[in-house]
Amino acid sequence: MNLEGVTVVVTGGSRGIGLAVARAALAAGSRVVLAARGEPGLAAARESLEPATRESTDLSGAGLETPGSTTVGERILTVPTDVTMEGQVAGLFEEAADRFGRVDVLVNAAGGLIRSSVTETRLEDWETNLAVNLTGVFLCSREAVRRMLAQPPAEDGVRGHVVQIVSGAGVHGWPGHAAYSAAKHGVMGFSASLRDEVREQGVLVSDVLPGMTATAMTDLPDFASRNKLEPEDVAQAVLAVLQAPPRAMLTRVDVRHRLPR
Ligand SMILES: NC(=O)c1ccc[n+]([C@@H]2O[C@H](COP(=O)([O-])OP(=O)(O)OC[C@H]3O[C@@H](n4cnc5c(N)ncnc54)[C@H](OP(=O)(O)O)[C@@H]3O)[C@@H](O)[C@H]2O)c1
Repeated sequence: MNLEGVTVVVTGGSRGIGLAVARAALAAGSRVVLAARGEPGLAAARESLEPATRESTDLSGAGLETPGSTTVGERILTVPTDVTMEGQVAGLFEEAADRFGRVDVLVNAAGGLIRSSVTETRLEDWETNLAVNLTGVFLCSREAVRRMLAQPPAEDGVRGHVVQIVSGAGVHGWPGHAAYSAAKHGVMGFSASLRDEVREQGVLVSDVLPGMTATAMTDLPDFASRNKLEPEDVAQAVLAVLQAPPRAMLTRVDVRHRLPR
């Protein structure tokens, strides 16, 4: 997919991996829609994106804006959204389509980690974790894919692309994090099923599985000595998935630190 001018919805777009994906997509010329619950976080994300994009795209020194072009600010929309709430998810895609016309890409990066042995895990915490990491992925994917299927395909036959930010915990167990691992395994099964439901109609579905990445989620004392990826590393992998050759679909990309520790 040529990312110039396409609309990329990023859940969890206010910080961490989602924000890095949004920054990379903006630099590639996309319009981005950032969704997260916290309005202050979204406002800070928006503020951080405008100058960053200006620097990364203004190579001429003559200013980012060219005659007839849109400003960076015009290419960013923030929509406070809880991805576990069906009505709010519908509103997110409604606003995105009203503002930019189409929804070409969804990156599901909203997520949360709970740490607890199975014997200590309360039902309420289990359900909350599955809601954000799994049900949110279902609700956002369903809404995006409905819209993608209804819109005309691009020249290469592609109507849209959904990228799930999963985790190594989606294919391996993670003691002390069973709810998170169960949710991420669920995303893998959901994604594989959705992929084969819609691929022939021009909607692509890919899974990106990052290793430990330096974000608020992993800013914990017992992870301090780990070699972590940076969110930008994961964002580059997402862009590579979106920019795969037209005949190809990257179904699963594992992103690991070169020096595991
Ligand atoms: N960091 C890692 O090591 C790592 C590794 C593998 C996979 N991942 C996955 O990568 C994704 C991003 O993680 P991250 O490390 O970037 O985490 P992060 O920095 O904590 O960011 C999480 C984002 O999700 C949003 N969010 C949380 N609950 C939400 C909800 N119910 N509705 C909408 N947005 C919600 C947060 O904003 P609000 O709180 O304002 O809603 C925030 O924007 C997650 O799916 C995570 O599981 C992370």
